[in-house]
Amino acid sequence: MILDGKVVAAARKQELRKLLEEFPKQLHLAVILVGNHPASRSYVSSKEKACHEVGIDSQVISLDENITTEELKEVIRSLNADEKVDGILVQLPLPNHINEQEILQAIDPSKDVDCFHPYNVGRLFLGQPIIQPCTPKGVMEMLSYYNISPAGKHAVVIGRSNIVGKPMAALLLQANATVTICHSRTPNLSEEVKRADIVIAAVGRPKMIGREMIKDGAVVIDVGINRIEDPSNPKGYTIVGDVDFESVSQIASAITPVPGGVGLMTVAELLWNTYTLARCRV
Ligand code: GUN
Repeated sequence: MILDGKVVAAARKQELRKLLEEFPKQLHLAVILVGNHPASRSYVSSKEKACHEVGIDSQVISLDENITTEELKEVIRSLNADEKVDGILVQLPLPNHINEQEILQAIDPSKDVDCFHPYNVGRLFLGQPIIQPCTPKGVMEMLSYYNISPAGKHAVVIGRSNIVGKPMAALLLQANATVTICHSRTPNLSEEVKRADIVIAAVGRPKMIGREMIKDGAVVIDVGINRIEDPSNPKGYTIVGDVDFESVSQIASAITPVPGGVGLMTVAELLWNTYTLARCRV
């Protein structure tokens, strides 16, 4: 079975669109983009488009890559104070000279749509989240749509990033899975992954998960979005996941494609988080 991000994201957006029709306030999302990272520019424009689809106002603030941490914090402070703004998102990665943690901590936790502020991360790990980070939440919604329950299953998360791996493990644990987190220093990665009923690949390495690593009938969720050079493509690149879809799809019971999988869910959940935070504030 292919777990289709287009179908599930469309259903999630449709549900939200209806709720927004009844909502007393026009929602507004502010997105900060620093510099000219091509993938980030593309993600930000998908987020803008998705906001438009459900009727959320969006504002992209494009800033020079040489901006200082202090100047960027000043932009965030003014958005924190702006009544019309419900959600603030700083697109990552930031240029190396900027202190990322300091920036994420400058966002008012009540406007932190990414759930990256330590207050919201803490609530998540206590099992009392107000919102959940968009990509892991998107994975959970995808599983739920296809009636795949993590309860009692062994889930293996490959990758320990703050954006995906760590919060993904927290959500699976909260849903009563037994969770293993693997990473670049895990010995016997293949053996660990082979024990999984549910595999979440979030490493950022093109097609590194092959069929030989997957247990027969496992559910495979591919969070990777990797650009690989492809002269035959007019864009000069092709997007592939962390999973070798062609071989793994022959053995998995369910698998997400890339593109067309988790990426679309991330954007849909961002819209939901904007709504959830706005609801807490009106
Ligand atoms: N960069 C890659 N994924 C994300 C995300 O979910 N949110 C933000 N802000 N930046 C990202």
